[in-house]
Amino acid sequence: MIKILPSILTSDFTDVNKDIDVFKSLNIDEIHLDVMDGNFVPSMTFGPKYISDIKSHHSDLKLDTHLMINNPIKHIKDYIDAGSNYISIHIETSKEKEIKTMCDMCKEKNIKFGLAINPETNIKKLLKILNKVSVDFVLIMSVHPGKGGQKFMSDTLSKADFLNEFKKENNQNFDIEIDGGINLDNIKEVIDKKIERIVIGSAIYKDGYIDSNVTAFNDRIRLIAGN
Ligand code: DX5
Ligand code: ZN
Repeated sequence: MIKILPSILTSDFTDVNKDIDVFKSLNIDEIHLDVMDGNFVPSMTFGPKYISDIKSHHSDLKLDTHLMINNPIKHIKDYIDAGSNYISIHIETSKEKEIKTMCDMCKEKNIKFGLAINPETNIKKLLKILNKVSVDFVLIMSVHPGKGGQKFMSDTLSKADFLNEFKKENNQNFDIEIDGGINLDNIKEVIDKKIERIVIGSAIYKDGYIDSNVTAFNDRIRLIAGN
């Protein structure tokens, strides 16, 4: 089932509940939260306290926490405790053994664990890890991580082909998520690659009409995929 995950990166962080209420009224049950540390990526956003505050206002909402941080093994527990339902870390940040440990920590708490991959990182590096660690999802970055509003890099979509092939050959069942530059014009390309979790930031926030923008995406998905 294809779903859109609104990213609140470009929202007013002091007034996010208002936006979340709009999303929920449109049957959105999960949002995407971009954690940036000013180190792995140049910008900084928020930490676990902000996430647990969102959870305390919206216990029914699933939270997809995207950790764009170095040394995630040092901090992941805080994001688990904050109430995340999905957590992704970047493969560029961690050794295989650490990835395995973080995956186990998440599974123990019934949290879905994912690996994110930057546009310039070779997919073979990820496939090697997927042979050893069984993750719940893979997050393909379709822009350079660190800020919203960038142009979609369509060549990153070939990673989905490798991943779908890998899933078939190895009888694995992880979801594929994509993040960055998705809009109404390119969403069909994404769905055609069997990508089910689609993060959308600026195309929802661009003109302030988040309700009609989400509706337009939902309608488009229904038209393309029939769900
Ligand atoms: C970028 C973030 C994205 C961002 C997506 O580093 O990971 O989640 O919010 O925003 P758009 O859709 O504007 O590229
Ligand atoms: Zn993100």
